[in-house]
Amino acid sequence: MLNTDVLIIGSGIAGLSTGIKLAVLRPDLKIDVLTKVNERESNTSYAQGGVAAVWDHGSDTHEKHIADTLDAGAGLCDEHIVRIVVEEGPTRVEEIIEWGTRFDLDQFKKYDLGREGGHSENRILHYKDLTGWEMQRALSAKAATLDNLVVHEHFFALDLLTQHHLGYIVTKLTPDIECYGCYVLNRKTGEIDKILAKNTVLAAGGNGQIYRSTTNPVIATGDGIAMAYRAKVHLENMEFVQFHPTALYNPVGDPQAFLVSEAVRGEGAILKRKDGSEFMHDYDPRGSLAPRDIVARAIDNEMKLAGVECMWLDCTHIDEAHFIKHFPTIRDKCLSIGIDPAKQMIPVCPACHYMCGGVKVDEYGKSSVRQLYACGECTSTGLHGANRLASNSLLEALVFGHRIAHSIAANIDVAEIEENIPHWNRTATMDPKEMVLITQSTKELKEVMSSYVGIVRNDKRLLRARKRLDLLGTETEELYKESLVSTQLCELRNLITLGHLVTKAASLRHESRGLHYNTDYPERAAFVQYSIL
Ligand code: FAD
Ligand code: SIN
Repeated sequence: MLNTDVLIIGSGIAGLSTGIKLAVLRPDLKIDVLTKVNERESNTSYAQGGVAAVWDHGSDTHEKHIADTLDAGAGLCDEHIVRIVVEEGPTRVEEIIEWGTRFDLDQFKKYDLGREGGHSENRILHYKDLTGWEMQRALSAKAATLDNLVVHEHFFALDLLTQHHLGYIVTKLTPDIECYGCYVLNRKTGEIDKILAKNTVLAAGGNGQIYRSTTNPVIATGDGIAMAYRAKVHLENMEFVQFHPTALYNPVGDPQAFLVSEAVRGEGAILKRKDGSEFMHDYDPRGSLAPRDIVARAIDNEMKLAGVECMWLDCTHIDEAHFIKHFPTIRDKCLSIGIDPAKQMIPVCPACHYMCGGVKVDEYGKSSVRQLYACGECTSTGLHGANRLASNSLLEALVFGHRIAHSIAANIDVAEIEENIPHWNRTATMDPKEMVLITQSTKELKEVMSSYVGIVRNDKRLLRARKRLDLLGTETEELYKESLVSTQLCELRNLITLGHLVTKAASLRHESRGLHYNTDYPERAAFVQYSIL
């Protein structure tokens, strides 16, 4: 058993930026970070385009970044939060530069600012097409210099500890639920331990793996949101799942689709049909650089009209040296499958990319449960509303990481460790040797979500999805009760929970807004409604 002051679940940008800030602010605190694989395997590491921040005050302003974010968010953003993130963001970016992050410079040695869909100005700081990899590298290196912060690799958080574990009945109506840490599976020994903490920070990332095709790595199974749901934490806006318009078409069905960054369109690439005709201006005057929800739906529609599995991204007119300098990884990936972007169009199609909803938090990252904070992709802060603006996610994690660190530093001294939590005592003994039960259910879940709860939804599809998910849920709970705990089984259970949450929230929203498009209710409602689960 491990007792700690602050337990952080997740070592991506949200977890590490919170931990680093706090470790520096309060060297007297012990901070432990859990990560289910290795420290650097996260959505963060795959971020390509960059981090949005008003940097060059020449023509850009905070007001413009705020307006672009609100416009993309389709009326569901919290303007107060948008203002906080946009105004505090540039200082947070300066800090991670001080911590060692490199961003590309232009010929005048100023930061080379890129453009992505929905942005009215060039304001994306980037490091080639490997921005996330570079940020994760710098954060991990900085974390390693701090004596009071330890990262524990291969520790899988199972469940948050609350009064429920002291024998009380906790329902969603129980006031003053408190979090005391979590149960965790040590993946190397197979043992389950409890970690007691005065404050816990959920920074466990997204859940792209609920769909057949996703840009997210295999770790993105929504564990944090599922754990929060089981602990009766309030969740918000789970129906808003962002599909990135341009993943590399992947007929092989790899569990992670390769992203062709929106920054490529920012440098002039144009979406086309196979015959070379452009189509985006038929959908939006901003063409290939319209916000993501619009571009993804347009591609989906064009694919359905033509009965094909991809559209095409034409980069052949972009100067080849320029392309190689900015997008070396994308070029190498394309070449590896026999496509030379200088000569041929790149086959692309939408893939699940980002969860806009999640644990509802206030402006200091506090959840509805005491002593539990949340940061990053697993949250709903109010920044993204019904559709996230490109490159606002890394920024959000930095701004909220800072705010959470300050809030914990100021408040933790009154919190105490709850010593009465019992050890994990499940008596199940069956080794889930029949892996097919898990792998097949995972496949079924992805099929259901992709077929019925994808980019375009309707009531009939949503109802069918709920029935299928109920069955999968029941079967998986039975398997869970009788089996020894394993990462694969817990991930499946979490994925099904996430499928349920997305489908339920989607069923409750009788309108089309941002990323949620239901053909039975194609119009946007005149009033604004947040879905709380
Ligand atoms: P993550 O970085 O995903 O970290 C989650 C952490 O939680 C991991 O360490 C994981 O191991 C840990 N974890 C999860 N479950 C458990 C568990 N049960 N127990 C223990 N640990 C657990 N955003 C931008 O702003 N700009 C971009 O250019 C950009 N490009 C992107 C490109 C791709 C391909 C992808 C996938 C995303 C991109 N995004 C981008 C989105 C952005 O990268 C993510 O939203 C952001 O990095 C999320 O950070 P996070 O720290 O919240 O989660
Ligand atoms: C991209 O590079 O296209 C991804 C940017 C983002 O998801 O914010």
